[in-house]
Amino acid sequence: MKKYAVFGNPIEHSMSPLIHAYFAENLGIKLTYDAILGTVGKFELEAKNFLKMGGKGFNVTLPFKQEAYNLAETKSEIAEITGSVNTISLKDGLIHGDNTDGSGFIKDIKNNIGFDIENKKILLLGAGGAAMGILPNILYERPLELKIYNRTREKAEKLCNKFLDIGKLDYVEISDLEKYKFDIIINSTSAGISNEDFYLPKKFFNNDSICYDLSYGAASNSFRSWAKQNKLIFYDGIGMLLEQAADSFLYLGVKKTINN
Ligand code: ATR
Repeated sequence: MKKYAVFGNPIEHSMSPLIHAYFAENLGIKLTYDAILGTVGKFELEAKNFLKMGGKGFNVTLPFKQEAYNLAETKSEIAEITGSVNTISLKDGLIHGDNTDGSGFIKDIKNNIGFDIENKKILLLGAGGAAMGILPNILYERPLELKIYNRTREKAEKLCNKFLDIGKLDYVEISDLEKYKFDIIINSTSAGISNEDFYLPKKFFNNDSICYDLSYGAASNSFRSWAKQNKLIFYDGIGMLLEQAADSFLYLGVKKTINN
């Protein structure tokens, strides 16, 4: 049976095994898909071992996405641009890296929620790995305005410089937020993981603006509360999780196994 997995640390709450097993069952494909607790500092060794032991490919979640990028011998364009990999497969005998976080986010926003980013004013909260993973795909959709607010300004500034070639984006200070009316506020911070509150001003959105948290479950509760307090429609990242998994299922090469 073909062997797949997801590497992460922590990993016990990962829904990937469930999602991929569901996809496989619906397509009549037999596979195993395990959750593997990676050891920080030993990811490359453990990942290569998995492939050596017959693994056909695997997904990668925090904190190994950049190490997965370094592991990959060839990469998709979006993996190259984001510098982060969430899907490893074997392509012509080489370790190949893809990233489906951005495409998963856009598919959820566009197809499931029905929100078109083109010509909209976007505010992205946070400037870490999660922000980096979706920024190029947001820019490809040609927003009217894309601003990044991050607690540590230098990180937002750095992220803007990284993607300047793709489209127009800029960082914004918290004191300037009220100069704008954003159509969508996307939370990519990890504040919710530690259940920290959001301290944001009040007037930088319209009544029909929407809030989207890249996290889901308890990790999205802080931003959800903020959105509810401000009477804004809120979506968590469960749709993105499913969409990135669906894209990843294709890139893992699982479907090819039907014909093998
Ligand atoms: P991830 O890979 O999940 O994006 P990360 O790269 O560590 O994780 O980035 C975490 C992001 O959440 C950062 O933008 C961080 O802000 P700083 O750059 O100022 O550290 C942001 N963040 C974490 N806790 C936060 C909090 N309590 N309030 C606001 N931003 C927070």
